[in-house]
Amino acid sequence: MNICVITGSRKGNNSNTFRAIRDIIGEMKDDFNVDYINLWEKCITPCRECCSCFDTGICPLDKSKGDEMASIKEKILQADYLIIGTGVFLHNINSALSVFLERIALWTHLIKLLGKKCTIVVSTASNGHMNVAGYLNKIAGFLGLEVIEIVVFSQMEFVNPEYYQYLVKESARKIREGVLNKYEVKFTDKQEEYFKNIKLLYEHNAFSPYEREYWARQKVLDYASLNEYFESFIVNNLKKKGDYYEQETCIKI
Ligand SMILES: Cc1cc2nc3c(=O)[nH]c(=O)nc-3n(C[C@H](O)[C@H](O)[C@H](O)COP(=O)(O)O)c2cc1C
Repeated sequence: MNICVITGSRKGNNSNTFRAIRDIIGEMKDDFNVDYINLWEKCITPCRECCSCFDTGICPLDKSKGDEMASIKEKILQADYLIIGTGVFLHNINSALSVFLERIALWTHLIKLLGKKCTIVVSTASNGHMNVAGYLNKIAGFLGLEVIEIVVFSQMEFVNPEYYQYLVKESARKIREGVLNKYEVKFTDKQEEYFKNIKLLYEHNAFSPYEREYWARQKVLDYASLNEYFESFIVNNLKKKGDYYEQETCIKI
């Protein structure tokens, strides 16, 4: 079972967000494989708005010298569970996370992380965390993730240690449960609505050639709902063949 932790703080091991996530992971006694990705320490070239990913499925920057996005994407696709963490910066996510999310914008059009689960961890001095939590929740939904929990750590240096421990323990429990029951995924009404919109766009030929071909391969019109799409198409493949992220349903780009 793979957990992938994605953060982007400039403070490395002293980051409040990282410390909270490290404590959450520390609570889990299971033998999960945990990959920590600090985006700030990675070389991620900012998106150039060439839109090649939408048109062809290929981001030319993935192959540019020194850029590390290709290996980061690979790790995310291999993960069963994502923990996405950020501090609050002027009521926004941190800039490294923002640069990273722009580089996977195509994945929101393909619902590429369908069926994976995630916990969103936000650390804040005092305010703006609702904006950040709401934004990340929305993007996670478009990516196809089930958001198991959004946990906010406020004023870490002053917080009551018992309450902190409670938050850490509860998060660890929910992540553990999520990882162990990885085939039981719930989709929100908003995600179902998004799937219906994708079907409409497909019917009206409103996609780029690459995206149209992708959804044609997925036989998108055969499914009444996102849940049905996930259950019948992906879970069947998954249970038959092992890791569904090796299947054509989730082509690595
Ligand atoms: C430039 C800057 C802007 C910040 N903006 C906010 C803010 O709008 N609201 C808030 O509550 N905290 C704000 N903070 C505090 C951080 O959110 C807080 O310290 C957080 O825990 C940092 O996360 P990190 O240690 O993981 O990097 C800001 C900090 C910096 C350096």
